[in-house]
This record gives sequence, structure tokens and C-alpha cells, in this order.
Amino acid sequence: MNTLRFLTAGESHGPCLTVIIEGLPAGLSIEPSEINTLLKRRQGGYGRGKRMEIEEDRCEIEGGVRMGKTLGSPVSIKIENKDWSNWKDKWDSVEPILVPRPGHADLPGAIKYGHSDIRNVLERSSARETAARCVVGSIAKRFLSIFEIDILGYLLAIGRIKTEERPENLDEIINSPFFCQDKAKEDEMKKEVDKAEEEGDSLGGIFEVRATGIPPGLGSYVHWDRRLDAKISFALMSIPAVKGIEIGSGFSAAERRGSALHDEILYDEEKGFYRKTNNAGGIEGGVSNGEAIIARCAMKPIPTLRNPLSSCHIITKEKTPAPIIRSDISAVPAASVVGEAMLAIVLADSFMERFGGDNLFLIKERFFREREKNFLPF
Ligand SMILES: Cc1cc2nc3c(=O)[nH]c(=O)nc-3n(C[C@H](O)[C@H](O)[C@H](O)COP(=O)(O)O)c2cc1C
Repeated sequence: MNTLRFLTAGESHGPCLTVIIEGLPAGLSIEPSEINTLLKRRQGGYGRGKRMEIEEDRCEIEGGVRMGKTLGSPVSIKIENKDWSNWKDKWDSVEPILVPRPGHADLPGAIKYGHSDIRNVLERSSARETAARCVVGSIAKRFLSIFEIDILGYLLAIGRIKTEERPENLDEIINSPFFCQDKAKEDEMKKEVDKAEEEGDSLGGIFEVRATGIPPGLGSYVHWDRRLDAKISFALMSIPAVKGIEIGSGFSAAERRGSALHDEILYDEEKGFYRKTNNAGGIEGGVSNGEAIIARCAMKPIPTLRNPLSSCHIITKEKTPAPIIRSDISAVPAASVVGEAMLAIVLADSFMERFGGDNLFLIKERFFREREKNFLPF
């Protein structure tokens, strides 16, 4: 069982999203403006649809916090859907959706839950839910920052337009419309998105998430479900539309020789053991090795198309074009923010498992004592 757990509830056009987080230590200060900043980043990026112009996500703390600090009890946080004002009068009476979109949860979801109105599926399968995850991610990031761990998500490709450049920190990408370090590629990326939009099409891409300042010893090799790389992959794969994950060298490791791939071990009095290279992406044997944790995600193109693919009416079974629903053209920049949040959640959980305590004071005491010795038991 995870040390840090959370549940989310709420529909895309319903009144609100709610998240309950269990396992946070007592004494952690919660800063709503910081959460709102991450929520705003998730709403941004070039290629988003009109919905993001309506919403301005703001968190409301409903439980588990007093005088700005966690109590050790579950924390409950709400995000209102501004669009609810347009939906509340028609929520129960709006025309049913009877044609599923290829690539979305529409058809498998309708079959699974026995819904003849696909709206009952898309309201929850929508990536709107990832706003609630960003609330948890922001709190996880704040917790980890106390231990000088920093996490960042950034874009590496939109469709076929790719970059090799990586930002050092958030300041370098915050004003980029793609959350991408490579300014020279921005115009090309914009053109790619604009062209897809003109043609009623959509785009995917690649984003990377990176955690620095990670102590060795998070995760474990002793059991399959405690491996840190497995937990990170699960968390990142849970982001809607993510279809591929690579950790460190990932797929390119398969074509290299062991002598060219593995990261030689060095020692320094000051910093302890370290590596000259980081092809492992900071994890060996399911355990963090002290180097930066790096994972890349491939996001498929958005399923909703203005120039729709062919589908079938679920009742008449007749061939019918998929419905055109308000949608993003591309959401890879936003997905990179969700990736940042998901990586933060997994690392905060693994960190608490390793250095855990019921209150922040105990966790700090243990962490900084071990850090004095470079986390070395010998
Ligand atoms: C931040 C974000 C925004 C998204 N926006 C849309 C959207 O506007 N329209 C759409 O059809 N899919 C969107 N998606 C992708 C779908 O949610 C996803 O493809 C769908 O739930 C099916 O899940 P799957 O692709 O993982 O199989 C978005 C995904 C993310 C991460």
C-alpha cells in the first residue's frame, strides 16, 4: 500500500472536481497560490481549445489544513468548474451522444458501464480530471522542495517537430507557448499546430520529466510492485493519451553495448558515490541511485477531430462520422505539467516510505541526519 494516496471525483462539466489526499505528514504548509500556479500551467500551452479560455482553475481547501498547515488528517481540496454555470440547467436533459469517437474511451466505456448515452463516459474519461492530480502534484512538489528535490516537465516534440534541448529550470520555459527550451523551434511548432487545426486534425508529441536532488535508496528491488521505475511508469502511463514511456536511455539502450551504456561508478569525499553518465535515468534495480531521474512520454494525437473519422451509431449501428466536440488540437505542453505532477506524487510517496514519519519534523530529522553521511550505511 502506498504511503501517500489520493482519490479524485468529479465530471468534466459537473459542478467541481474534488481530491482527497491521505498520508501527508502533519506540519506541511500548504500555499493555495502555489497550487493555482501549477493549475494555470496545466491550462496553458499552444494548441488548447476554447474550454481553457472559460476555466480559471482555483483550489479551495475544504479539510485537513489549519492555520495554513496540514494536520496529518486527510486533506480535501475542490476545484470549481466555471463551465458548470453553462451546464447546470441542461445537465440532466442535454441531447445524448450516440456516436463514439475513435481513440477515446467512448465505445469501450459505454460497453463496460452499459451507458447508451456516451456523455456518461466522456464526462469522467476527459483529461479535465488531471487538474485534480495537479493539486496533489503541487503539494508533493512543495514537500519534496524542503529536501531540495526539484521536478520539471518540458516538451521535446510536437508532431514531427523535435528538439534535443533541455531547460535547466522552470524560468527557461515558463514563457514558452510549448513549455520548450528551444526558442528557435517555436515558429515551426506553431506552424505544425496551425496546419493541423486548419485541416481539422490533431497532434501528439513527446515530453520529458526530470527530478533532481534525489537521494539514493527510493523504491526497492525486493518485490515487483515496489520498483521505482515501475511505479513511475504506471503513474505516467495513467495520463490520458500517453502511450509510451522511456526511462533514461529507454529504447535506444537496446541497440548499445553494455560497455557503452552502463554508468561507471565514481567516488568523491564531498558527494559520495556518483556517475559520469546517467543512461540509467537515475534508477538501477528499481532503486534510485542518486542521479537525476529522467523519463520521457510519447503522447498520441488528440482523438476528437474537427474533420472526424468514421464511426458507427451505437443503437442503429449505421456508419456515421464521429461527433465534433469542443477540443484541444494538441495538449502535449499541458501533459508535461501533468507528468511533472505525477512524478512528484510517486517520488513524494517513495520518499515518505524511505524517510517517513507522522510529522514533517521527524522526516526532516531523519533525512538531514542521513544526508550528512551521504546516505551511506558503510
Ligand atoms: C492535458 C490533456 C488534455 C487533453 N485534451 C483532450 C481534448 O481536448 N480532446 C480529446 O479528445 N482528448 C484530449 N486528451 C486525450 C484524451 O483524454 C485521451 O486520449 C482519452 O481519454 C483516451 O485515453 P487514451 O488515449 O489514454 O486511450 C487530453 C489529454 C491530456 C493529458
